[in-house]
Amino acid sequence: MTSPDLHQKTAEHSILLSFGQPDPETLPIAELREALLHVMNGPEVGAALQYGAEQGTRSLLEVLVEKINREQWLAVRPENLMITAGSTHAVDMLTRLHTQPGSVLMLEAPSYVDSLHLFRDQELDLHPLPMDEEGLIPGALAEEIERLHARGLAPRLLYTIPTFHNPTGRTLSEARRVEIIALAHRHGFWILEDDVYRDLPFEGTVPPSFYALAGGKQVLSTGSFSKTLAPGLRLGWLLAPVEEVQRCVNFGLTCMSGGANPLVAHAVAAYCLSGAWEPHIQRQRVLYRARRDRALAALERLMPPGVTWTRPAGGFFLWLSLPDHAQASQVRQLALQQGVVLTAGEGFFVEPTAGAHHLRIAYSYASAEEIETGISVLAQILRELR
Ligand SMILES: Cc1ncc(COP(=O)(O)O)c(C=O)c1O
Repeated sequence: MTSPDLHQKTAEHSILLSFGQPDPETLPIAELREALLHVMNGPEVGAALQYGAEQGTRSLLEVLVEKINREQWLAVRPENLMITAGSTHAVDMLTRLHTQPGSVLMLEAPSYVDSLHLFRDQELDLHPLPMDEEGLIPGALAEEIERLHARGLAPRLLYTIPTFHNPTGRTLSEARRVEIIALAHRHGFWILEDDVYRDLPFEGTVPPSFYALAGGKQVLSTGSFSKTLAPGLRLGWLLAPVEEVQRCVNFGLTCMSGGANPLVAHAVAAYCLSGAWEPHIQRQRVLYRARRDRALAALERLMPPGVTWTRPAGGFFLWLSLPDHAQASQVRQLALQQGVVLTAGEGFFVEPTAGAHHLRIAYSYASAEEIETGISVLAQILRELR
């Protein structure tokens, strides 16, 4: 999440390589206005303005069932889904239902900074797992489980961002996903798969989700409209076995407030049913792919020796590793002085020092020209630090 204040203060003059959100130019304002008017002028307006069914707006559930079954070759039913106020809402609710303070949650190192905030709020016992170029390493996960067992502990959950990971951009291979599912089934923990970037591949095929590979067994999966439509809608979903969805339906917050954002959900369903969402996603893939290419070309051309970076096949981010003499927080500060906003690595780690030599570049928000300028400023800073 990014503070609106920071946004206002920095947006005008800075190159924002820190925002993991859609380019403002891509927001389909006219289409969403039309969808909202369609709801406001239609017979469902009364229902849309009342508390909604706990599981979420039916028409949107049906849109998602159709999409997930078509794209992932699944046969999920509306009972397997729940509409949430973004993936974050789903992750918060699912971890609360599956843990108590002190429960062991394993996660990739690095991981999504705001999920770390949630897990810390819930006082979970966080166990970071190493990654390599292909993502989470199943052997390291197996070793961590053994270490936990030796201390009389057992993991409850594995939280993972397997596809176009935030912050590294890496994608976990299908073979590794299968190995990890076998470990989950053998040791009884659940996999919480945060899959908000699944719709944004630039080339090749996206590996099947954990949910698809495990037939839903011990997998909880989340998705979002934040990356492919607009984060301000505050709309996402969770996909899980029916009993798990029921637990979320009976969750205190859901009982109290009803289904998530009924008016917005009705409007987004109308937008999707108009056929506008898929072409919109296609256009975004083309746009972000061009930006990813521009960023990679600039890194290749400009970075001094000793700096390495990931090559994401989709999503919003790439991840830089700096040489030992370059402190990410100092580099970030120097870049800021020249109007380039980057994210230093510390916040993405359970042990912040692990991120001291990493930077995240988001290529979704800034224009291709800005990305190139920002990278050239960064490269100059790194050359001068040598
Ligand atoms: C991995 C991951 N999960 C969740 C979110 C937030 O999703 P939402 O806006 O649906 O809560 C983000 C946004 O940066 C993210 O990178």
